[in-house]
Amino acid sequence: MEYTFSDRISGVQPSAIREIFKVLEDPTVISLAAGNPSPETFPAADMARIASDLFRDRPGPALQYGITEGYGPLREQTAARLRARSGVGGPDDDLIITSGGQQGLDLAARVLLNEGDVVVCEDPSFIGALNALRAYNAKLVGVPMDAQGMDVEALERTLRDTPRAKFIYTIPTFQNPCGATMPADRRARMLALAHRYNVLIVEDDPYFELRYSGAPVPAVKSLDTDGRVVYLGSYSKVISPGMRVGFVCAPREIVAKMTVAKQVSDVHTNLFFQMVVSEYLQRCDLDAHIADCRRLYVQRRDRMFAHVRGWGDRVRSACPDGGLFLWCELPDGYDGMALCRLGGRRKVAAVPGQTFAVDDQKPSPGFRLNFSMPTPEQIDHGMALFGEALDELLGC
Ligand SMILES: Cc1ncc(COP(=O)(O)O)c(C=O)c1O
Repeated sequence: MEYTFSDRISGVQPSAIREIFKVLEDPTVISLAAGNPSPETFPAADMARIASDLFRDRPGPALQYGITEGYGPLREQTAARLRARSGVGGPDDDLIITSGGQQGLDLAARVLLNEGDVVVCEDPSFIGALNALRAYNAKLVGVPMDAQGMDVEALERTLRDTPRAKFIYTIPTFQNPCGATMPADRRARMLALAHRYNVLIVEDDPYFELRYSGAPVPAVKSLDTDGRVVYLGSYSKVISPGMRVGFVCAPREIVAKMTVAKQVSDVHTNLFFQMVVSEYLQRCDLDAHIADCRRLYVQRRDRMFAHVRGWGDRVRSACPDGGLFLWCELPDGYDGMALCRLGGRRKVAAVPGQTFAVDDQKPSPGFRLNFSMPTPEQIDHGMALFGEALDELLGC
């Protein structure tokens, strides 16, 4: 039987990352490639207690269908937390619980994009988002990054020259893969440009609570006065990604359309886990838990960055103020993919920058290292092996 697939999905290629992840099938390989939070941080004991109480005391609601917008108490708790922590959400906004932040991206694309519409995004950017947008036949136009996030001068030129731009997709805080955070003045400028060129902004913010240094920066959504920003968030990085609980805070009309789109997709987010998160927020101290996560991750970040410093000026890198990733760039003319292949032969895995590029055929000097998953010993060993790969590639 020969199958013909939709144009929509035929345009989405399995990412180059698969080649690197093949290396990971070998259990002796040290992975600096994942984007996962450390399992050491999962609040399993609290969740076990909550889960058992829910099944004993409220099995009906926990195992029944729920409403598409999400479990009422969790929507209220999430909205209150967002307002208090980052000033996100006003009287004209609404909030929907999604199956992870990833579904928020899918819903944003589904309700906002027609075929051929342009999405202006940071280049490089989160592969899950790029593929979600590609799946709707959006045309992606990349804007270069620097140490302070998206280059807003380049953004202005792009918006001026791109008539069908529908929205800007940005990860302004601890960007994946670059780790960069956009300062407040750039955020304000991005918002002003969105206003001038009449485009929306989709702000993807799953990492903002994982800050280890530097002062907090206001969410773009908190600066929005004319309903231009769709804000995507998630409990994945601060509680657990396996639960698949995320959220979108956006103007009411947009959330209403997303609700229709979600209904035909998965009816609602797993109700049991929505209730677990809600109970966790009520009975436990999420802020104290996040503080523990930060303490663990800052040590790993510093340990990994010390190794990067030891590589000297052979690698350009900046220490990120938060998130889960360190981004490095080789000298001009060298390819991050080649380095990752050499790493793979030494049984250490990282992700080549090309994977995150808007044009994924174009070689990139970058590569992404994750510091949340490996233990301190794995960081030391993995970075030493990577250092050897670097010596081999750069010939010193
Ligand atoms: C920038 C960004 N957005 C969204 C997600 C999706 O997270 P989840 O669907 O687990 O909430 C990720 C996951 O790595 C991410 O890095």
